[in-house]
Amino acid sequence: MEIKTVGVAGCGLMGSGIAQACAEAGYSVIVREVNEDLLGKGLAKIESFLAKGVEKGKVTPEHMREVLSRLKGTTSLDAMPVCDLVIEAVVENLAAKHELFRALDGICPERTIFASNTSSLSITEMAVVTRRPERFVGLHFFNPVPLMKLVEVVRSPLTSPEVYEVAAAFAASLGKTPVRAADKSGFVVNRLLVPYLLDAIRALEEGVGSVVDIDEGMRLGCGHPMGPLTLLDFVGLDTTFAIAEIMFGEFREKRFAPPPLLKRMVQAGFYGRKSGKGFYDYSQQPPKPVPGLV
Ligand code: CAA
Repeated sequence: MEIKTVGVAGCGLMGSGIAQACAEAGYSVIVREVNEDLLGKGLAKIESFLAKGVEKGKVTPEHMREVLSRLKGTTSLDAMPVCDLVIEAVVENLAAKHELFRALDGICPERTIFASNTSSLSITEMAVVTRRPERFVGLHFFNPVPLMKLVEVVRSPLTSPEVYEVAAAFAASLGKTPVRAADKSGFVVNRLLVPYLLDAIRALEEGVGSVVDIDEGMRLGCGHPMGPLTLLDFVGLDTTFAIAEIMFGEFREKRFAPPPLLKRMVQAGFYGRKSGKGFYDYSQQPPKPVPGLV
């Protein structure tokens, strides 16, 4: 079960980072987006990340060229059958993931391992729509993928122990630390992180502090690299809303329920950094808190 070629389905915030991390580790990578526009944007993200690495002296121009030469972008699934492992990183929506895995299952040979980068959906529920549930795992990466050192490796009750070990070894081969987790919504990190992020929004709604007070409180008081509202903008408010809805649906516990302010912001198109506005306005340098949120 040697992995040489990796397919990545989705070239958004997570997919582009996963594709880059795999190419940096020496794998041949085929990354697929649904149209040329999204593919172009995703590949540009990778190029600009590497270029910043060159500027910072962390990446050599030669390494950048090599990494880019190992990456192939496509808008069709036709090339996926050559992959030993396909990692899905599309929108956090079960129907969309089912559709993708059914299509991949129909064209990929039996040996191909499937992985989902889901942060909250059930690995088991995805695995069972394929004819290879024993070759199906979760590989949950963290944003920004090229820098963050963790991958949660998730097994379903149907995952074969051998495939699980291959997946954990693959995560380690990317220079990441694999943490093993059972198929319970949110796994380890989001189980703890999501209620914290939602509580930060509730604190803002309840007037405990301003956007800046809440962020600076956690950054300076607890030594976090960024405050919770900055982190929400970074992860994406639409993504966090989807994760919270899924976790609330699974556990029916208030701590996972998305607060009304989060819902309103998503409805208004305030998705965070990617849309230019969330708790902060990124058209300004440095970004300023958006007035009138509560
Ligand atoms: N290429 C190579 N290296 C780079 C780079 C690039 N383009 N950009 C930065 N780096 C390096 C820097 O040189 C630096 O290295 P040293 O430590 O050796 O000096 C390091 O990466 C950190 O970069 P910076 O100093 O520029 O920036 P920073 O200290 O502000 O760190 C950060 C940036 C890593 C994003 C940090 O702010 C952080 O850890 N934030 C929290 C991120 C987080 O919590 N992510 C998880 C989100 S949850 C999730 O993803 C899962 C989910 O399901 C919701």
